[in-house]
Amino acid sequence: MRSTSPSSRDSFTSKFGVIAAAAGSAVGLGNIWKFPYEVGQNGGGAFLVFYFFFIITIGLPIMISEFVIGRRTNANAVRAFKKLSPGRPWYFTGVMGVAAAFMILSFYGVVAGWTLEYIYQALVNSFKGMSPAELSEGFNVFLSNPVRPIIWQVLFMILTAIVVIGGIKNGIEKLTKVLMPVLLLIIIIMGVRSLTLGTNIDASGEIIGRSVDGLKFLFQPDFSKVDTDVILDALGQAFFSLSLGMGTIITYGSYIRKDNNLNRTAVQVAFLDTLIALLAGIAIFPAVFYFNVAPTEGPGLVFTVLPSIFQKMVGGYFWTLAFFLLLAVAALTSSISLLEVAVAYFAEELKINRVKATIITTIMITSLGVLCSLSNNVLSQVQLFGRDIFASMEYLSSNVMLPLGGFLIALFTGWAIKRSDFYAELSNEGTYKLKMFNALYFIIRFIAPFAIGLVFLYSVGLLG
Ligand code: PHE
Repeated sequence: MRSTSPSSRDSFTSKFGVIAAAAGSAVGLGNIWKFPYEVGQNGGGAFLVFYFFFIITIGLPIMISEFVIGRRTNANAVRAFKKLSPGRPWYFTGVMGVAAAFMILSFYGVVAGWTLEYIYQALVNSFKGMSPAELSEGFNVFLSNPVRPIIWQVLFMILTAIVVIGGIKNGIEKLTKVLMPVLLLIIIIMGVRSLTLGTNIDASGEIIGRSVDGLKFLFQPDFSKVDTDVILDALGQAFFSLSLGMGTIITYGSYIRKDNNLNRTAVQVAFLDTLIALLAGIAIFPAVFYFNVAPTEGPGLVFTVLPSIFQKMVGGYFWTLAFFLLLAVAALTSSISLLEVAVAYFAEELKINRVKATIITTIMITSLGVLCSLSNNVLSQVQLFGRDIFASMEYLSSNVMLPLGGFLIALFTGWAIKRSDFYAELSNEGTYKLKMFNALYFIIRFIAPFAIGLVFLYSVGLLG
């Protein structure tokens, strides 16, 4: 089964490079932009409990499965299934993944474009002295402009395409290795600042808000707020944040060398990703409550709250700039992994050269993204399934396609691949002893598909 030699394909060169690239894919706007606003809209701590639960019981086993599928086959997300199960329709999972990459990257590029606008605004120091209300107003004014966000989005997509054309070793690995650790550091510093904001008192002595309330919101679960939507959102967010269910990890797995410990890599990536989401939550919610911003504000939340925190920091100008720069880079290391899924598929399956494949897919995705961006202004009345274009791309991809993809990947790994093959790949042909293998295998075969199925059935109202 170990057919093609990996040497003809590009690959990661070092262990740290693998982790940095996979973590680079996982850590992105999902952690810093989406996670906080999902927590805010879904009532806080209870969402977090479900999120953690899904990361450990479903996310991690599926990440391991995807790594195994990718490295075993050294192929793109579609061909990987065809190689492991020839003549059977499993490859449809990969096709759906490519479609999900298109949809996710369409709105992802838009939000990443917002971060570029914020870099620009930070550079010209326009946040200085602004209140949270003014920052929120400023964000809305920016969003209601049909042209400006699109310019940034297009610029961001061009950057993504340039890195993807550079290939694995030269582009992706080099960039992520250096910048991921710096991002981690800045978020920690912001968290400390946010936590120490204390109590916000206005001129007449009234309490406006307290930062400890943000911690309570994040860590004291209120299960009365939980309904099926909260649970589905938590599941979708777990998939989205770990880059699972659509072939990214399969594709990256195909570039990993045979001596890498996949199990350990998966654990490290999942840990880092969860840590960064949590740190983002710790940076944001104390400030949300201190400034008395509504936690339910939605996609604009971090763009309002973070510049407010920076106002309160010595060297605020520098921190704001550094933060948005790094956020854009974190978004870039995720967007390249999304684009790579589509490019690897088109280049290898349709036999188009890599540069051409990148240009064509980038143009298609950016066009869809333009519609997402316009749905914040001139196309706001256009609805798909009761949501505007942006929100429906987001909902359909994270809450429907990724969990469905994960469901199929778990079934595929558990039932279509031979147990001995799965074990061989995961243990590097027996080099590592896998103590927890039986439990892992049981989860992949039974628990993960069952749990995802259950959440689905509940959320469409067929159960409960
Ligand atoms: N995980 C990325 C983030 O959190 C987004 C992503 C989703 C990337 C799916 C690849 C695949 O920002």
